[in-house]
Amino acid sequence: MTMHGVFVTIEGIEGAGKSTAVSCVAEWFTEHGYDVLCSREPGGTPVAEDIRRILLTSTEEELAEPAELLLMFAARAQHVARGIRPALEAGRVVVCDRFTDSTRAYQGAGRGIDSGVIESLAAYAEQGVRPDLTLLLDLPVEIGMARASARRGTSSKDRFEREAHAFFERIRAGFLRIAAADTARICLVDASAPIERVQAQIRAILDDRFETAR
Ligand SMILES: Nc1ncnc2c1ncn2[C@@H]1O[C@H](COP(=O)(O)OP(=O)(O)OP(=O)(O)O)[C@@H](O)[C@H]1O
Ligand SMILES: [Mg+2]
Repeated sequence: MTMHGVFVTIEGIEGAGKSTAVSCVAEWFTEHGYDVLCSREPGGTPVAEDIRRILLTSTEEELAEPAELLLMFAARAQHVARGIRPALEAGRVVVCDRFTDSTRAYQGAGRGIDSGVIESLAAYAEQGVRPDLTLLLDLPVEIGMARASARRGTSSKDRFEREAHAFFERIRAGFLRIAAADTARICLVDASAPIERVQAQIRAILDDRFETAR
């Protein structure tokens, strides 16, 4: 079936400013007359949000690596089928906080899971739904960690936030490799800049991609 909407994903490490960027992108499209759906991964539908809870906060037993990967893709498959695809078919803009590039970076580069396994599961879960544009918010790991912990306040770290510094360095490098290999889809944003400068970069990318396309 043809899809008429626009699918934008926002990627980056913890505290990069993804949630802030989702609002900025949504605002741009709303101002330009589009109907926008903001979502996030893992999650985005009731079932996928149930899976998110297992992935981020389950502490009863240690989650096995293959189980983590398969749960990520189970959540994604549900989100695509019941959230993203219907919205795109209705002509809406979907702005999603994380998508498959996060799995490539966290479970692939971070945990060392084979990319062949990840890519075949990605194709199965996505069922042809791919981002039209991905914004990769890049910044040094220490800055992201400091922002995330300032935002978190006294609430406890999730399963990923408890990982060691080196894990996030592998993820940042992984994201940068993914972006370098797909420059047609992925735009790099310097997320270490102040919020207004990050937002200006994002708006310039959207102006360039979508302003004349209408
Ligand atoms: N460019 C920026 N400069 C300084 N602070 C920022 C910037 N962008 C966002 N912040 C602040 O840093 C914190 C983290 O930002 P945000 O929640 O958008 O990041 P995130 O990538 O969604 O984080 P998480 O991975 O933890 O969900 C927030 O308090 C936000 O206000
Ligand atoms: Mg966030």
